[in-house]
Amino acid sequence: MVGKIYGTGSCVPSRVMDNNDMAKIVETSDEWIRERTGIERRHIIEDETTSYMAGQAALRAVEQSGIDPAEIDMVIVATSSSETIFPCAACEVQKTVGAVHAAAYDLNAACTGFVLAFNSAQAYISAGIYRTILVVGAESMSNMIDWTDRGTCILFGDGAGAVLLRAEEGTPVCMAAHSDGIKGEALTQLSRHRKGWEQEENKESCMHMDGQAVFKFAVRKVPEIIEEVLEKADAKLEDIDYFVLHQANRRIIEAVAKRLKTDLAKFPMNLEEYANTSAATVPILLDEINRKGMLQRGQKLMLAGFGAGLTWAACLFEW
Ligand code: UT7
Repeated sequence: MVGKIYGTGSCVPSRVMDNNDMAKIVETSDEWIRERTGIERRHIIEDETTSYMAGQAALRAVEQSGIDPAEIDMVIVATSSSETIFPCAACEVQKTVGAVHAAAYDLNAACTGFVLAFNSAQAYISAGIYRTILVVGAESMSNMIDWTDRGTCILFGDGAGAVLLRAEEGTPVCMAAHSDGIKGEALTQLSRHRKGWEQEENKESCMHMDGQAVFKFAVRKVPEIIEEVLEKADAKLEDIDYFVLHQANRRIIEAVAKRLKTDLAKFPMNLEEYANTSAATVPILLDEINRKGMLQRGQKLMLAGFGAGLTWAACLFEW
């Protein structure tokens, strides 16, 4: 059995901050941000929370699927920015959608979180343990960043995306995932639940990133893991209809396409509108291309995520 996507959904805050708004906060410019990242705008929470956006994205996915929420066996929310440690965001989503029979838990693997959650859901389905699984990626990155650090604050946005998977007969799903804790210092976010954090300056608790190290890691490891998955699946690059990659930087996606010698048109992007929403980028993009009518049953999709940990993961499946 494989998990087929029956529905997708997304939710982003209505408040938009464009690059000129960012230039009022830190020393930067629309031109620099566009050239170095491809980002034009990002959606930033006001009253919304991570679990609220997760719930709304999930409701839309469930609605599109036509599946009774009582049939959902499991809810997994990939997030590292939930407003509560417990109850987990997945339990909030369970409540919102009325998935009364589901088990629910959160998964934290930063920007790789959604692809790992998707892989986990596929593994449960292929093992025959569960039949219907809701997988969500949701983040409020604006609560984590140091708004005085131009090297990071311009890169991120808030939002959530969701997919509803249902077991069916089909071509096996193929996946891979890796981590490298030794290089973890390249991208860190300390918890505010550590002893003594109250005495620190707020900046200490914010995200720290070695941008160039993460950039180099991504352009090397993403093509590698895509090739690893293709080899496992005995498939070729040409077989893939779309590469749905984590939306961190347009230049990273261009470099991956170039290394794979694959047409950039097969790499849909929406980072100009939402920036990097961490675990939410892949499901928001999936929802967007699905609702635009770009996807047909039988097409082959490759998902790939990468980020803090360091972590990276990929998944090849048929739409
Ligand atoms: O989900 C995974 C999360 N992270 C990523 O994917 C990040 C991956 N890395 C990147 O996307 C890029 O490294 C950045 C966009 C973060 C930075 O781009 P870059 O081309 O690597 O720039 P840089 O860090 O080498 O900085 C170049 C210059 C520096 O000035 P000097 O030293 O040349 O005078 C920076 O101080 O650009 C400066 N700079 C900025 N200037 C205007 C850095 N940030 C900004 C800014 N506006 N926002």
